[in-house]
Amino acid sequence: MPSDTVTRADILAGLRTLGLPPGAKVLVHSSLSSFGHVEGGADAVIDALLDSVGTPGTVLVPTLTGSEALSPANPPEFDPKRTPCWTGRIPETFRQRPEAVRSLHPTHSVAAIGLGAAALTAYHIASVTPCDELSPYGRLAALDDSYILLLGVTHAANTALHHVEELVGVPYHIQPGFARARLTVNGQAVERHYLLHAYGTPRAFDRMEPIYLERGIQRNSQIGRATVRLLKAREMVVLTAQCLRADPGILCVR
Ligand SMILES: CC(C)(COP(=O)(O)OP(=O)(O)OC[C@H]1O[C@@H](n2cnc3c(N)ncnc32)[C@H](O)[C@@H]1OP(=O)(O)O)[C@@H](O)C(=O)NCCC(=O)NCCS
Repeated sequence: MPSDTVTRADILAGLRTLGLPPGAKVLVHSSLSSFGHVEGGADAVIDALLDSVGTPGTVLVPTLTGSEALSPANPPEFDPKRTPCWTGRIPETFRQRPEAVRSLHPTHSVAAIGLGAAALTAYHIASVTPCDELSPYGRLAALDDSYILLLGVTHAANTALHHVEELVGVPYHIQPGFARARLTVNGQAVERHYLLHAYGTPRAFDRMEPIYLERGIQRNSQIGRATVRLLKAREMVVLTAQCLRADPGILCVR
């Protein structure tokens, strides 16, 4: 019977059982309430993640800020220090830690802490689309020791699958026309042109889960009341791209 209360030590033990190795680079999507009660709240989860990967590792969280209202006619504004994310209490707490580095992108930024934080986030400023090869999603997927971790959430929250959509060039992920976004870079206002994510095509990312489990690139377990899922990022991207090329509708609601 899963416990109603979990501690930082319980989460660390759960991550070890799941198979997250020391030194890993891991992108984490999360729901704090999914665990039951976490002693110490979001900070306890973040500390357990950092304990788990240790000094040579890197923890990344999505700090997304986009919305359906954005378009070339209504472009985004983004200040990495001030713009809150909508991806939950854990990423919002994480990004405000003094040691966190946040990538510069007006809708799909990522915050990172650890040895690889700067290298994984540095090139997002040069991305024209949200999740290309220069983005942290793409940079992570190019590495061997990289993981996607879903804490109490499903693949519906797995942003790296948009990276696969970009690699394969699906026709439904990007809005037509460039948006002139305003970013704050080192306190200075900068304008850059972006192709924005297109909302409106409902996704069925959970359709991939049985395929990942069957191919041995995903493991599931339980921490407190949360179902937790760990995937090898590179293998997930390669396999999903193969599946998407074979069946262009596989990631969408049919
Ligand atoms: C939307 C989402 C964040 C909601 O999850 P959630 O658990 O309800 O919310 P959070 O993770 O923000 O955690 C805050 C909630 O945890 C609960 N909570 C507060 N303290 C807590 C504690 N110590 N222990 C456990 N739960 C606690 C509260 O219910 C709180 O909600 P409130 O702020 O309304 O009071 C989650 O379902 C999700 O989708 N996460 C992934 C997002 C993502 O990465 N998206 C990428 C899209 S491509």
